[in-house]
Amino acid sequence: MEVARDARATQLPGELLYIQYEHALEEQYLPAIRALISKDLSEPYSIYVYRYFLYQWAHLCYMELCNKALNPVDKSLMGVIICKLEHHASHSPPTHRGYIAMLAVTSTFRGHGIATRLVKMAIDAMAERNADEIVLETEETNLPAMRLYERLGFLRSKKLHRYYLNGNSAYRLVLLLKSTDPETD
Ligand SMILES: CC(C)(COP(=O)(O)OP(=O)(O)OC[C@H]1O[C@@H](n2cnc3c(N)ncnc32)[C@H](O)[C@@H]1OP(=O)(O)O)[C@@H](O)C(=O)NCCC(=O)NCCS
Repeated sequence: MEVARDARATQLPGELLYIQYEHALEEQYLPAIRALISKDLSEPYSIYVYRYFLYQWAHLCYMELCNKALNPVDKSLMGVIICKLEHHASHSPPTHRGYIAMLAVTSTFRGHGIATRLVKMAIDAMAERNADEIVLETEETNLPAMRLYERLGFLRSKKLHRYYLNGNSAYRLVLLLKSTDPETD
């Protein structure tokens, strides 16, 4: 696709740093996280939505930073993933379910595997914490996101008609982390 080719033509800056979010980083990075996510996603999220995820599941949120080597203090945000993991006792059977709430990569540096790496880090972190599955919703028209998740093994579990405020429909995608076949349990 034209857009992807253009993105890949942009050189990645030398040094990339993937770090886990922590509360002490809020002042330095939350404004940039909000700006990056609100730029491309159709849903406007208030500061409280970000804090809901980041306060409780900082260990499931990762940032990709470009280390401007000459100024170690000024590291700019190039990508972020925000997730949660909850136990759903009312499900049959009860389910430990991970959820990818937000994912974005700065437009200039797409197509270099940054989102793939962020999603893999989140999957590994949730799998280590015994998640049974990971779910998310994405707009049906968001082909880069659909391709990314399906390449990583997510399956379409449901179509959600007119799910977003802009009237677009979504797919719920699910990645099963544990076998549901009783013969292999
Ligand atoms: C969707 C989104 C997060 C993808 O980010 P990204 O960093 O470009 O994703 P990746 O680079 O990991 O994967 C994109 C493509 O680059 C390719 N790629 C991966 N690593 C690569 C590398 N090292 N070199 C070249 N290409 C690479 C992938 O194979 C993939 O190819 P595809 O287009 O055929 O699927 C990004 O487009 C975005 O931020 N969109 C706006 C927000 C959004 O839609 N978020 C998702 C909401 S659910």
